[in-house]
Amino acid sequence: MSIQSVGVIGAGQMGNGIAHVFATSGYDVVLNDVSQEALSAAIGRVEKNTARQVAKGAMTEEARGAALARIRTTHELGELGGTDLVIEAATEREEVKDQIFAGLAPSLGADTILTSNTSSLSITRLAAKTDRPDRFMGFHFMNPVPVMKLVELIRGIATSDETYQSLLSVVENLGKTAASAEDYPAFIVNRVLIPMINEACYALYEGVGSVASIDASMKLGANHPMGPLELGDFIGLDTCLAIMNVLHDGLADTKYRPCPLLVKYVEAGWVGRKAGRGFYDYH
Ligand code: CAA
Repeated sequence: MSIQSVGVIGAGQMGNGIAHVFATSGYDVVLNDVSQEALSAAIGRVEKNTARQVAKGAMTEEARGAALARIRTTHELGELGGTDLVIEAATEREEVKDQIFAGLAPSLGADTILTSNTSSLSITRLAAKTDRPDRFMGFHFMNPVPVMKLVELIRGIATSDETYQSLLSVVENLGKTAASAEDYPAFIVNRVLIPMINEACYALYEGVGSVASIDASMKLGANHPMGPLELGDFIGLDTCLAIMNVLHDGLADTKYRPCPLLVKYVEAGWVGRKAGRGFYDYH
């Protein structure tokens, strides 16, 4: 089916980036969050990030105005029901996602495709609790969404070919590249990336190197744009730990055990940039 309008649930770091790329690619966007503060902050971020694109000559002021006018915000989940595609980008807690999908159900159009931006939860399990497992997929964007070229497409066991093809076309329209991943814990990117960050935590925990030397080693020695501890702070150490737990529980292999130092930082509330403190101090 042809997709023209998109509902985005959750106006956080991922949600505002997703709204940004869809609006600048010509889609009508309805952005939903329970918090007015989050919605206002998200629009502010999109305004700022698109202004930067104009300043760099990557977009005209006219195109920016048109993109911003395509984003509407709402507290009402029901207002997303008429869109062609819904992307859930709320908190990474399964009970929250289940509640959102249940809340959406009464107003959803028969053909609307439902997706989740989950970074690790089972798509098959999320889909099975909705009325449309055939029109449900994992649609995983990377942070920062306007910059990162990849989108992971994860089919649940019941996802139809038609749903997959529709989302593949959407990814092309966004100017991004799709990678298909099977529905196993943490898919591809996080299956490889998060254990690397966890291993960097072990290197720090065991005294192999300091925060500065571990990050410098991977930046200069492996050409990564950010060191693994800096990247952990950027993603959120709580998110990294949640993904390690999904890998550990789902694959039952001790190689995925979360580093005790990572657990301690999360217990302290030192979860990275968003908290002002993680492996680095952002105050
Ligand atoms: N929103 C929009 N644009 C942004 C941005 C943001 N939050 N942050 C940076 N940018 C843009 C800048 O405008 C700039 O654009 P141009 O090159 O066109 O001028 C570009 O990104 C580079 O930014 P900077 O020069 O300010 O900074 P940088 O060179 O240090 O790059 C970075 C910043 C792009 C974040 C880079 O450090 C990077 O690629 N880091 C790794 C990011 C990464 O690995 N992300 C994946 C995380 S895993 C994930 O998302 C999956 C999950 O489920 C956990």
